[in-house]
Amino acid sequence: MKIGLLGLGTVGSGVFEILHERRGHLEKIYGETIEISKVLVKNREKKRGICREGDLLTTNPYEILDDESIDLVVEAIGGIEEAYDYIQYALNKGKHVVTANKAVVAKHIDALLTLAENNHRAFLFEASVGGGIPLIKPLKQCSLINEFTEIKGILNGTSNFILTKMMEEDLDFQEALKIAQELGYAEADPKDDIEGNDVARKLAILTTIAFQNNIRLEDVKYRGISNISRRDIKTFKKMGYSIKLIGKAIVQEKNISVLVEPVLIKNTSQFDKVKNAYNMVLLKGNNVGELRLYGEGAGKKATANAVVCDIIDVITDGCTKNTILREEKFKAAETKFFEGK
Ligand code: NAP
Ligand code: HSE
Repeated sequence: MKIGLLGLGTVGSGVFEILHERRGHLEKIYGETIEISKVLVKNREKKRGICREGDLLTTNPYEILDDESIDLVVEAIGGIEEAYDYIQYALNKGKHVVTANKAVVAKHIDALLTLAENNHRAFLFEASVGGGIPLIKPLKQCSLINEFTEIKGILNGTSNFILTKMMEEDLDFQEALKIAQELGYAEADPKDDIEGNDVARKLAILTTIAFQNNIRLEDVKYRGISNISRRDIKTFKKMGYSIKLIGKAIVQEKNISVLVEPVLIKNTSQFDKVKNAYNMVLLKGNNVGELRLYGEGAGKKATANAVVCDIIDVITDGCTKNTILREEKFKAAETKFFEGK
């Protein structure tokens, strides 16, 4: 299995390291070498400290996309348009694609899954939601045999990290955001994290899979945490509450309301125990019941772990089918933000 890696930042370097460290082990189990044969970066001059740096790095994506010996492309450059072009190109060239990019998945999920299916290739995106939490694969499987009625969760590591630091260490917003960026949790444009867009994208992906309906990214109403002050936090704390950025999709009769907003959480709730860059997702399905999935929602190794699990699924052919049924069972409900004090 030859892999072309697009991007060698937080996620890409994590994937590189895991595959390098576990190479012998994976080879013994699967009987084939898993080799990263080329890596796309923007700036070749940056010092990376990886082995074979000289022959591995390129700034020309087509050295990877047109290389017929490459079986699978990992997309970890981020952004939308360029990433979308490269993913489409790779699938059309008969390569499997694994991505961590929720922005591109949320916007183009139908087109990309259809393209993958038409080309008999896998398009997998476990790392796009919940960082290291195995979430997409079990949800894909469960959605075939469950009627889901609710998805609720803390789905952004950066904003949860900021709120935790403000609450527990009395840091101000900008200080906490700076640390989250240094730790590699934040998006290239951290506005996506703190204004709720990132959670909206993740929720759009989860609802698409869980409800198999016609809810789209545009239906997700969101607002973020950027106007929460240290003073607000102190007041909430005195009252026995913390505040968390929550994404929620709930089925009510034939409607689904999909909303992202900061919510006060009682300090007895399990959501209150989700600290730093951890995420937690609660799913309700008629067979599976209430399921809570918890783990590191952002960061190098946890996210790279999810990407490598997708690669292993391609090798073992353990990936579920690409197709997502779109049924007109539900429509997006009119949603309103909570306006109370
Ligand atoms: P990052 O640290 O900024 O890394 C981006 C990498 O892509 C860098 O190596 C950069 O090259 C390269 N790159 C960017 N634009 C490029 C272009 N136009 N052409 C060639 N190379 C380009 O980003 P990241 O945090 O790894 O995130 C990557 C993706 O994973 C994003 O979609 C993000 O949403 C997603 N994700 C991230 C996390 C996380 O915790 N960080 C978790 C889940 C999902 P240089 O190194 O030369 O600058
Ligand atoms: N910036 C994202 C977050 C990365 O903080 O949750 C994981 O998707």
